[in-house]
This record gives sequence, structure tokens and C-alpha cells, in this order.
Amino acid sequence: VSVRFRVELAPGAPRGHEVVVGRGLERELTELLRELAPSGLFVVSDRNVAGLHLPALEAALREGGFAAAPACVLEPGEGSKSPAALVRLWEALLAAGLDRGGVVLALGGGVVGDVAGFAAATWLRGVRVVHLPTTLLAMIDSALGGKTALDLGGAKNQVGAFHPPAGLVADLERLCTLPARERAAGLGEAWKTALLAGEPLLSRAEASAAGARAGDLDALAPLVEGCLRHKAAVVAADERDERGLRALLNLGHTVGHALEAARPALLHGEAVAIGVHVALRLSERLGRAEPGFVPRALTLGHALGLTLAPDRPLELDELRPWLARDKKRGAAGLQWVLPRGPGRAELATADEASVQGALLDVLLRSGAARPR
Ligand SMILES: NC(=O)c1ccc[n+]([C@@H]2O[C@H](COP(=O)([O-])OP(=O)(O)OC[C@H]3O[C@@H](n4cnc5c(N)ncnc54)[C@H](O)[C@@H]3O)[C@@H](O)[C@H]2O)c1
Ligand SMILES: [Zn+2]
Repeated sequence: VSVRFRVELAPGAPRGHEVVVGRGLERELTELLRELAPSGLFVVSDRNVAGLHLPALEAALREGGFAAAPACVLEPGEGSKSPAALVRLWEALLAAGLDRGGVVLALGGGVVGDVAGFAAATWLRGVRVVHLPTTLLAMIDSALGGKTALDLGGAKNQVGAFHPPAGLVADLERLCTLPARERAAGLGEAWKTALLAGEPLLSRAEASAAGARAGDLDALAPLVEGCLRHKAAVVAADERDERGLRALLNLGHTVGHALEAARPALLHGEAVAIGVHVALRLSERLGRAEPGFVPRALTLGHALGLTLAPDRPLELDELRPWLARDKKRGAAGLQWVLPRGPGRAELATADEASVQGALLDVLLRSGAARPR
């Protein structure tokens, strides 16, 4: 069972790519690759993922009639979004002799996708990359949209390029081996997307929340597909983040990024879920949320098994310096993405007292406590 659709970038332009979502997509992958007619293939992965999923990928490629593809296996973790890892990759590409007609296959989570995508963007001034995401977060978020990045000197995503993929194959079977905590973090981003997308994704998420939380692939499939379709629509309308549409996808990320910095043990999606909770409270305080929306959103968050507050209370002073540093801070002050209703959100500034109130609503609770 699989769904295939096309992402169009800049309407009418001869760019865009295929997205395939489903279970057991070996045939679909080799078909898509045949359409791309690569002069050669090169796989990028990390050690965890390569151990679990590289042999099956290699078998599928062999089965599909492709010559053996060299692979570069990175250390797992954010540390691989580094100039050092990039240089290793470039050198492996050189050794493999990948030419301009070649295709890079990014087999892994968002880390592999970001660094492999950047390597592809810069190798010979740009070769094609096909994303084979293996985490829930990468499937619903990072593999689509063409943003690639490296960290530098402790600053996340400091160096990067827009490099839309030539294809994206989200095979849910790869999630079988994903640790439950990583799955839950991905569901944090799925929650965010369902609130932003509104119907039909929101109701679909409510209906499949229990299954998705338990890792049931058939429950996750419609969520992944819906999140991808929403992001695809946003990216098609605002590829380069110039119209404020793509910025709405940063719902929960203002506080999320500050939390990640203040509590390095938090995963990105975990911090985002708490950040979405703060944004919902802020919307409520500012009178921007339509009646019933915030309780409905929180009920879904709980049904997805998300932890909507830090595991131990956090002082506002721990967050302030990081909030102040938020790169989206414009001349008008910190821009918040405020959720207003299903599929409705806006970018706005907020007064200090409301922000403080919303932060205190969420951050002073312990992770186990249910919001009011
Ligand atoms: N480019 C974008 O638009 C975009 C969007 C969101 C996030 N990101 C980036 O994505 C990164 C986070 O991605 P992530 O959450 O996927 O983290 P990750 O890539 O570090 O993967 C998380 C962990 O799970 C392991 N893993 C991955 N797939 C597995 C599988 N199927 N089975 C078992 N283990 C598996 C990895 O080895 C790693 O240890 C961050 O660097 C973030 O900045 C980029
Ligand atoms: Zn995110």
C-alpha cells in the first residue's frame, strides 16, 4: 500500500519531485530511481541506521538492477552536522567518483538528511539527493522542503542551502526499529502540523492518536501522509520562506529552541511539543484562540502521548537569554506563531506580561502534571 504524489515548487516551473509514502517501498524506490536515470548512486547514513537498514537498501538496489552504491556512514547524532563530517563526505564522494549525473541517497533521520543534503547541494555545485527518512521527524518534516544545514560553533543550522530533493520515499517499515522516545518526539511535530493544517488532518490525527502513540504503522501512515501533504502545500506556496507562510511551520519553535538550549537532554520534538503548549496558552491569554480550540488541541496532545511540560520546573531566567537570541527576532521584537483555530495561525508580537504568563502556565508544571 502506498501513496504517491508530486510536490510542485514555484507553480509552472519545471521543478518539483515525487513523494511516496507507504509500507515496504523497495519497488517504488527503484522505480523512482530509474526515472531519475542516475549515472551513479552514493548512500549517506549513520552507524545506527546503517546497521539496521543499509543491507535491505543495498539488496533492493541490486534487485532493481543498480550497480553497488558506495556508502559513507557517519557517527549518529547532531555532532555529524559539522564541517568535519562534511569534509569526510566530500572526500568519500571524490573517492567514489560521483559525477554530475549521480544521485545521493540520504538514509537516516534529520541529521543525515541535513548533512547529506548540504553535501549534495555543494558537490560539483549541486547533484540530486533522494531522501529515505528513517525517523518519524524526518518523514513528516525535515526530508521535505529543501532546507539543508550544518551547525557551526554551537550555533544550530548556521550554514546551509536550499536544495530541494529529487524524490522522497517514506517507507514506514523503517520506523519498526525507531526507539519509542524518538517516535514520541516525531509525534510532537505531527501534533504541531495537525493543528496548523486543520481538517481533515486534525480529525485524522485524533482518530489514529492511540495507534500512532503505540507505534502502529497503519495508524502512523495517514498521519505521515497528511503532514507531508500539508508541508508540501506550504513549501509550494512559499519555498524560500519569504511570504510568512513557511514561518507558520515554526509554531512552538520559539520556546522550543530556547528549551533545547537550556535543557540539552530534551529531543527537538519534545521541546517543540512544550513550545506548542506555550503558544496555545499565549493565544488563549491574548484572546486570539477560538472557543474550544485550546482544550481540543491539548486533548490531542495527550492522546498522542506527548509530555507537554518540562520534567522539572524551569525558571524563566533560564530561558530569557535564549529567547532573546531567537534568530526570528525582527525589529518589532519576538514574532510568535499563535494558533487560533484548526488550520488557522498567525504571526504576531505579544506583550511581555502575556508571554510571561503563558510561560509560567507551562514551565512551572512538572512533565507528569496535566494542564488545566
Ligand atoms: N531540514 C529541515 O527542514 C529540518 C527540519 C526539522 C529538523 N531538522 C534537523 O533534523 C535533526 C533531527 O532529526 P532526527 O530527530 O531525525 O534525529 P537523528 O537524525 O539524530 O535521529 C535520531 C536518532 O535515531 C537514530 N535512528 C534514526 N532512524 C532510526 C531507525 N529507523 N531505527 C533506529 N534508530 C534510528 C539515529 O541514529 C539517531 O541516533 C536536527 O538536526 C534538526 O535540525 C531539519
Ligand atoms: Zn521542528
